[in-house]
Amino acid sequence: MRQKFGVGRLSALKWSLSVLLLSIEMNTKTALSSKKHIEFRDVSFHINDILKRLIVSRITLEVPEGETLVLLGRSGSGKTTLLKLINGLLMPMEGEVLVEGRATRDWDLIRLRRGIGYVIQDAGLFPHFTVAENVGLVPRLEKWDRCRTAARVGELLNLVGLDPTEFADRRPRELSGGQRQRVGVARALAADPPILLMDEPFGALDPVTRAELQREFSALARRLGKTIVFVTHDLREALLLASRIVLLEAGRIVANAAPQEFLRLDHPEVRAFTSSLDVSPGASA
Ligand SMILES: Nc1ncnc2c1ncn2[C@@H]1O[C@H](COP(=O)(O)OP(=O)(O)OP(=O)(O)O)[C@@H](O)[C@H]1O
Ligand SMILES: [Mg+2]
Repeated sequence: MRQKFGVGRLSALKWSLSVLLLSIEMNTKTALSSKKHIEFRDVSFHINDILKRLIVSRITLEVPEGETLVLLGRSGSGKTTLLKLINGLLMPMEGEVLVEGRATRDWDLIRLRRGIGYVIQDAGLFPHFTVAENVGLVPRLEKWDRCRTAARVGELLNLVGLDPTEFADRRPRELSGGQRQRVGVARALAADPPILLMDEPFGALDPVTRAELQREFSALARRLGKTIVFVTHDLREALLLASRIVLLEAGRIVANAAPQEFLRLDHPEVRAFTSSLDVSPGASA
């Protein structure tokens, strides 16, 4: 029988998260090095058509190890493009993107991507793989043995609130949008990469589950010490998760500040976002 992700499931999720944090934490500690970080040096990217339309322009940005940097911006402002520049899916036309001090151009792209967990915007699961095969993908590529991979898959599915006995053998088409997103988060965490790129990972969740996962993720992020770049349109989510918030407008950075400082910035695009927080019952839209 299919179970809804209700209040009972949320307390089970909370419990499983706290139990499982420890093992993930232990896995992670060995993987961290003091050099992990991401840097954009005056990076521009344009579409290579006749108009050479700039998608992102003159981006200079540093993400120190262990920071959760939130990229905030309206639809089309260039957030996903910046993530793709980090994992080498796109290469800068000007400037360079460095990961662990090395330009993405100089990385073996397979190695680069194995060190980066990427939760893409629509979860991006392989439709013909089961949930367990999707989550275990990178461990298998890393040649973990079967038992270790299976244990890790079970651990991760519990972590994101999906009971392995119920979900492990389903295909992505047999899941709701929110469940697919949670499988995407589990897959990104599976091989304990030091860097996580998360493109609106909670976008398809109902508000209650979303708030719960945001709180749990925020605690998880602090404890794991991973370097995280997290994309959202949602200022509330940004304030909860970020150690820094970078606001993009039409491919340019217009603000880069710690959350409390961000709220005080006097920039029209910042105000557009902060005014989105002022919602009172009965107010006209
Ligand atoms: N392959 C492409 N060809 C042409 N234009 C593109 C391409 N990829 C992205 N763009 C354009 O680049 C801009 C930035 O896209 P991007 O996907 O980075 O935005 P985003 O901030 O992630 O938006 P959203 O919040 O809607 O996901 C958009 O105007 C988009 O239409
Ligand atoms: Mg996007």
